[in-house]
Amino acid sequence: MNKRITLKIAKIEDETHDIKTFTFKHKLNAKPGQFIMITDFEGGEKPLSISDCSEDEFSITVKKIGEFTSRLFQKREGDFMSIRGAFGSSFFISDGKVLLVGGGYGSIPLYLLAKYLSEAGADISVINGARTKNDLVFCDKFRELGIKLIITTDDGTYGEKVSSVDVARKILSNQLVPKPQLGNNDHFQAGAWKRENDEKKKKFDFVYAAGPEMMMKSLQGVIGDIEYEFIFERYMKCAIGICGNCTMDPLGIRLCVEGPVLSKKIVEQITEFGKYHRDATGKRILY
Ligand SMILES: Cc1cc2nc3c(=O)[nH]c(=O)nc-3n(C[C@H](O)[C@H](O)[C@H](O)COP(=O)(O)OP(=O)(O)OC[C@H]3O[C@@H](n4cnc5c(N)ncnc54)[C@H](O)[C@@H]3O)c2cc1C
Ligand code: FES
Repeated sequence: MNKRITLKIAKIEDETHDIKTFTFKHKLNAKPGQFIMITDFEGGEKPLSISDCSEDEFSITVKKIGEFTSRLFQKREGDFMSIRGAFGSSFFISDGKVLLVGGGYGSIPLYLLAKYLSEAGADISVINGARTKNDLVFCDKFRELGIKLIITTDDGTYGEKVSSVDVARKILSNQLVPKPQLGNNDHFQAGAWKRENDEKKKKFDFVYAAGPEMMMKSLQGVIGDIEYEFIFERYMKCAIGICGNCTMDPLGIRLCVEGPVLSKKIVEQITEFGKYHRDATGKRILY
């Protein structure tokens, strides 16, 4: 919905040293994968994924990166922000055996997805990866859902030093089978996992990913013939399909309308995937 509304920040919670969640009391009716445009009228309007949404409230979870997000971090509960949305496509909700792969703050939209999948009765495994232990988001929230959670860090500060794509490759090729909920011992430990015959037979039905584009590009190479959906970020201005800044080559799809969640069929046709994106002026920036 493109109508602008101004809302009071109802709650602010720290997730990590540079990630906070902001909750607003409002019936947004957003689905997993969708985003809002948000502004404080002091400069800039930015796209942010919906990290949680219920009947009467919704949340966004924000990493402090530059000018706008730094200003957002200075807001207090009771301050006002103005939003448009929710916009964009949402994830397909499978009731099968699914693998969710998230990298860094890219994992943010995967929590609401995991909630929906859980309600649909899916058999869910989540690989939640980050550079370091301090950059991991939503581990407790995933644990509360009682799903199989595998945490990885690039530097080995939580669990073994391994990338989320490496673990995904092992799981998807059936070299490893994630155990049910491991409490606080859910970091990746190859030796602690074993195959269980019935699980070994069952292939994954669907893979979902959110995170750095190069991570998703590597993941694409290990998914094989399984259906998947990835969520993409491109520089967005209007979010309603007019300015053309978020189009992707060669299809010309507008990520703010036809995305940000894209299916395997579309992703396989995008030639710029993992190669370049565009800045605010539309200029190509190589990865
Ligand atoms: C669909 C979508 C969902 C997103 N969801 C989240 C989220 O849930 N949490 C989160 O922390 N971040 C999310 N982002 C990224 C977020 O929009 C940027 O981090 C934010 O705009 C940075 O603004 P800044 O002024 O703080 O930083 P700047 O210094 O202005 O920019 C830093 C970097 O942020 C990106 N960026 C800046 N402006 C935009 C823009 N208008 N559109 C897209 N990218 C931009 C660019 O890569 C830029 O290099 C999302 C982006 C998109 C497109
Ligand atoms: S942001 Fe303007 S067309 Fe997508």
